[in-house]
Amino acid sequence: MCGIVGYLGEKNTKQILLDGLKELEYRGYDSAGIAVLQNGEFSNYKAIGKLINLEKKTKDFVTEGFAVGIGHTRWATHGKPTELNAHPHLGESSYIVHNGIIENYAQLKKELISDGVTFLSQTDTEVIVHQFEKNLKTQKNAFKAFEKTINELDGAYAILLTTKSEEDTIFFAKHGSPMLVGINSEYEKFFASSDTPLIEHATQVNYFEDGDYGFVNSKEISIFDKDAKKKKAIFTNLSQNKLSAQKDGFRFFMEKEIYEQSDVIADTLMGRLSDDEVIFDEFDKSLFDDGINEIKLCACGTSYHSALSASYLFERYSKIRTSVEIASEFRYREPIMCKDTLFIVISQSGETADTLETLKMAKKAGLKTLVICNVDNSSMVRLADATILTRAGIEKGVASTKAFATQVTIFWMLSLYIAKLRDSLKNEEIIRQISLLREVPASVKVTDEMHEKLKRLSKRYLHGHGFFFIGRDIFFPLALEGALKLKEISYLHAEGYPSGEMKHGPIALADPELFTIALLPEHLHYEKSKSNVEELSARDSTICAISSQEFDKADDFIRISKCKDYMLEFFEMMVVVQLLSLEISVRLGNDVDMPRNLAKSVTVE
Ligand code: AGP
Repeated sequence: MCGIVGYLGEKNTKQILLDGLKELEYRGYDSAGIAVLQNGEFSNYKAIGKLINLEKKTKDFVTEGFAVGIGHTRWATHGKPTELNAHPHLGESSYIVHNGIIENYAQLKKELISDGVTFLSQTDTEVIVHQFEKNLKTQKNAFKAFEKTINELDGAYAILLTTKSEEDTIFFAKHGSPMLVGINSEYEKFFASSDTPLIEHATQVNYFEDGDYGFVNSKEISIFDKDAKKKKAIFTNLSQNKLSAQKDGFRFFMEKEIYEQSDVIADTLMGRLSDDEVIFDEFDKSLFDDGINEIKLCACGTSYHSALSASYLFERYSKIRTSVEIASEFRYREPIMCKDTLFIVISQSGETADTLETLKMAKKAGLKTLVICNVDNSSMVRLADATILTRAGIEKGVASTKAFATQVTIFWMLSLYIAKLRDSLKNEEIIRQISLLREVPASVKVTDEMHEKLKRLSKRYLHGHGFFFIGRDIFFPLALEGALKLKEISYLHAEGYPSGEMKHGPIALADPELFTIALLPEHLHYEKSKSNVEELSARDSTICAISSQEFDKADDFIRISKCKDYMLEFFEMMVVVQLLSLEISVRLGNDVDMPRNLAKSVTVE
């Protein structure tokens, strides 16, 4: 998740910007930069890696007296983490910082290039500042040029722009990415993508709404809504608790990240879906031709579960043979590797030692490689032939949630992408699936009603001699993932199991102290799954059924909404098992974000 800061005032602009960016480090980034406009001149500094590198570059840069400044920490989504791609981006006499994804940047860039504009970066952001300067030539003032530019953008953005055309002004716009403006008793103005950089500077803040845009200068704050109507800022007192602010008021980063899934999946989809096609501009489609007849997926932990989920989609939709490996096993079993196999590794961190080693093995064996990853410039991204970034933003909770959600989303998209290449799905089915994909952000939105129900229900699941999470087909990897979440943060024993396998031994454990969390999707093998659960219920196992269909043999029943397709049921049930594990862990008094014995990235064997 990129971070944005802005300042207008007479204090030490450089330091206020750098301190603000430091408060945003928790959001994760791979480069940073600032631009300050003072006495008609811009000073701009950028650096890749940690903020200390930017501080070193700016150590001799002094700001005193009135200035306007903007700063940015970048989490790469378009273009590698390089200085050229770092924000702020320069037009001719304007700088911009941006958080979000501009869906129509390619079209705008093409038109600008045909107008003779030269681009320095690969980013979608740079398009905005050149578009603004194009409009500056035809509009009567900078604000009108900015307003016209914003109206020409599709996608998600939080933008700050400064320009020599109006030296004492910062222009802003917000749609789909958070941003707020803060004030204090003096006429200073502060901008940020979240509260923390404003703490100890601003006393009151106004959270912009989607569609808000406008400008601030030393005299005023002018805000316009999506209908271009002027609106009053609504200032509220700013909490002074930084850690709470970093968690955006949630109790844990994991909880915040479960709630973020709706927004980050929207980012994952952004710019990659047309009505009848999935678009990945990160690699050439030749990755999947030249005789690729099999896909092998390799990962660990939660990433292994998303890989297992992918195998159902690849074989069902792409009609390509698919196998899945646990990396720590694969690397030592002297596997047979064939060049007609595309080797896909999945890793949130891109640093997991076992998975990285299997990627090296595949490269050595001459296989084509693809990595599905959340961290650009990680070891796996640098090594693989191609990368698809999940765009989940930094995941602080050790127990992975939004990384898993975005990985499965990518795989669903990839299965349709390959299906199109291999002509294995009718076009109308691809269109239907794409319309379902667009509903995923809504399907993972947490409702207060569901969360409150799971909070209440969790008190019944704090003991017992273990849990089975059971599901069929693609709900089996979801069962594995639910069991892993529970194990990781509650320290209670849980197993994920194929529903149909329970009668081959595990049902011997059935008694009232055995808790079975049963995934019962209406649109995939419902009757078969239901009879598996009835076998357990008949032996007095305590059943918690998750379904859109009432199930009277369950001791507890968690109702999800009636969905159009089993994949939307998958995502709704994913949120349920994540929240249930979190609330059980909370009742047990565990450290939800930093569970015992675990590390966020396992870079050792
Ligand atoms: C998941 O909740 C765990 N934190 C763990 O299983 C994790 O998924 C695994 O270590 C793989 O990490 P990676 O995705 O960064 O490779």
